[in-house]
Amino acid sequence: MNSVVIVGTQWGDEGKGKITDFLAKEADAVVRFQGGNNAGHTIVFDNKKYALHLIPSGIFRKDKVNVLANGMVINPKALLEELEMLKNGGITDFNLAISDRAHVVLPYHIQLDGLFEDLKDDNKKVGTTNKGIGPTYNDKSSRIGIRVCDFIDLNVFEEKLKDNLKYYNKLFELFGKPLIEPSNVFDEYKEYSKQIKSYVKDTGLLLNSMLDDGKKVLFEGAQGALLCLDHGTYPFVTSSSPTAASVPLNTGISPKYINEIIGVTKAYSTRVGSGHFVTEFENEISKKIRDVGKEYGTTTGRPRRIGWIDTVVLRHTRRISGITGLSVMLLDVLTGVETLKICVAYRLDGNIIDYLPANIKDFERCEPIYIELEGWTEDITQTSKFSDLPLNSQKYLSKISELSNIELAIFSVGPDREQTVVLKDIFK
Ligand code: GDP
Ligand code: IMO
Ligand code: MG
Repeated sequence: MNSVVIVGTQWGDEGKGKITDFLAKEADAVVRFQGGNNAGHTIVFDNKKYALHLIPSGIFRKDKVNVLANGMVINPKALLEELEMLKNGGITDFNLAISDRAHVVLPYHIQLDGLFEDLKDDNKKVGTTNKGIGPTYNDKSSRIGIRVCDFIDLNVFEEKLKDNLKYYNKLFELFGKPLIEPSNVFDEYKEYSKQIKSYVKDTGLLLNSMLDDGKKVLFEGAQGALLCLDHGTYPFVTSSSPTAASVPLNTGISPKYINEIIGVTKAYSTRVGSGHFVTEFENEISKKIRDVGKEYGTTTGRPRRIGWIDTVVLRHTRRISGITGLSVMLLDVLTGVETLKICVAYRLDGNIIDYLPANIKDFERCEPIYIELEGWTEDITQTSKFSDLPLNSQKYLSKISELSNIELAIFSVGPDREQTVVLKDIFK
């Protein structure tokens, strides 16, 4: 296949960064297609650990084109800080392209993100990453957004900035928030504009011509399907669509190129932020999982909520993204757990259901129906073949694949690039 899409099948942090970095060795280009620096993708190799928020996880492989596509919302200050972090880590030889159609996150978006959350009652707060993501996508759909092509044309940038702050400062005044002076933002951000200008291009043209020429392109999703604005647990979601269906729209490539879609899942579930989480549990086992799996947010440092794996969620994700292969991550974290639970269906008001209800009140009443499997105690962190896994570990993976109805493509037994076992030819 010329193109492979990596998507999160749960609520984010499934290990997409690790798999993207791993598969990038076979690709010619790696593309982030939605979200912004709400994402936190961890990559570990050669005893070094990197956290990326905006830059595609192909950046560590020389000669790959790394694209920030039109569907993204880009905070230029955060982007330059990330580039600096990479340079300090010795990553200097790369090829970066930023879409001229992506939208720019500015300081007022971050202040709005906080304001909108503050105005909500406690049980209605989304628990956003407070990176200004929602308000930037709001501006995009309200047609007042500042795109990268506007941002690098300083006259256009200044004019749009003034227009938007005329409006938003009225709102800030009303709610007692500090006013934002356009000239202060302009003076600071025009320097960022000059620094990113050389990376900006029409990345839709670039990607289509690469694909037409038979080049291999890897698309890296951020967040997870359950945080999708359309198909997630609305309103406790992000403001973009982290599904394979959103790739053509958010990159400008033809839908005909999308055929291989790898869904990345943890061997259990986690969630940060608010919203019902059917398989969530809190006891000694979840504490151990949080500890061993280092389950604290890469972007915000918040402890992640822990749950058992949920195959209702996986089947939902398979449907909405057309997943063709499953990558099960953090299998090693479950070593030593005596009994493993897999959620196979939900119980809602006495009925057994096999879908995620759209109505959040119904979803909140869903309870998990589990099957139980015996765990394993052997260290699996050096495993390089499926058949070398303890039998119970093999059974666990096979059951997840069977219940989700997705072929097992990859499993991962540690954070390092090397601790990855591939069972299927991904870029055929
Ligand atoms: P992403 O947002 O989907 O890229 O995932 P994150 O990087 O936010 O979170 C995944 C975490 O799990 C990171 O700390 C990874 O280093 C770590 N990780 C990935 N795969 C494995 C694995 O197989 N085992 C263990 N122990 N950690 C893993
Ligand atoms: P990666 O790419 C986990 C969650 C937030 C919040 C909701 C909305 O690392 O998997 P937002 O700031 O996007 O408006 O917040 O979405 N969220 C994530 N959770 N991983 C992420 O990204 C996330 N990006 C956003 O916690 O619940
Ligand atoms: Mg993450």
